[in-house]
Amino acid sequence: MKLNSVERAMMNNPLRAAHQHRREAAWFRRLAGGDLAGQHVLEIGCGRGVGAEVILDRLGAQQVTAFDLDDSMVELARKRLHGRPVSLSVGDVNAISQPAASVDAVVDFGIIHHVPDWQGAIGEIARVLRPGGLLLFEEITRHALEWWAFRALTDHPRENRFEADEFAAELGRHGLHGTGTLEHRAGGALFVGAARKV
Ligand SMILES: C[S@@+](CC[C@H](N)C(=O)[O-])C[C@H]1O[C@@H](n2cnc3c(N)ncnc32)[C@H](O)[C@@H]1O
Repeated sequence: MKLNSVERAMMNNPLRAAHQHRREAAWFRRLAGGDLAGQHVLEIGCGRGVGAEVILDRLGAQQVTAFDLDDSMVELARKRLHGRPVSLSVGDVNAISQPAASVDAVVDFGIIHHVPDWQGAIGEIARVLRPGGLLLFEEITRHALEWWAFRALTDHPRENRFEADEFAAELGRHGLHGTGTLEHRAGGALFVGAARKV
């Protein structure tokens, strides 16, 4: 599901970019147990491209493949990432156009809660990760999406949302196992974590 204008403004601004570069990069480095030097990383739902910058500049990846459902976001990412080792396309996390077992890591900066069939998205992520590959994720909980402000101001699927433990259980069903405790942030509205494909 694409962002409405309110959420688009919440995502596409310098404060969010600074938070991704400083705080979220540090969370992911710690959860990954270090950087992603030399790795081919897939970013799902890349938005305007700040996440790909973080993956290259803060996590040390060699190459990023990134896609988003929204062609206008991909166009912004193309401008931002011109000349960087990033391959961009319009795409759907429920049908990822990468071969099986082809990427070292997948990074999810808060997109799976936008996907109606989020369990299918996790299946696709598990398919494209190589054995031993790493998923880093930051997600929003069902109870946060039920808050008045989220419901009134943003567009998200209403049914079939998840709490952190349900998300972790679904990862396990696809052979993705947590590398540590899920961390709750923003008063429990967000959770972040990492899982490896066995
Ligand atoms: C909350 S925004 C996050 C954007 C970016 N990752 C960031 O952190 O700034 C969610 C993004 O997921 C994209 N998206 C939603 N459903 C998607 C899907 N099924 N496949 C790929 N991208 C999707 C939206 O277009 C949007 O850019």
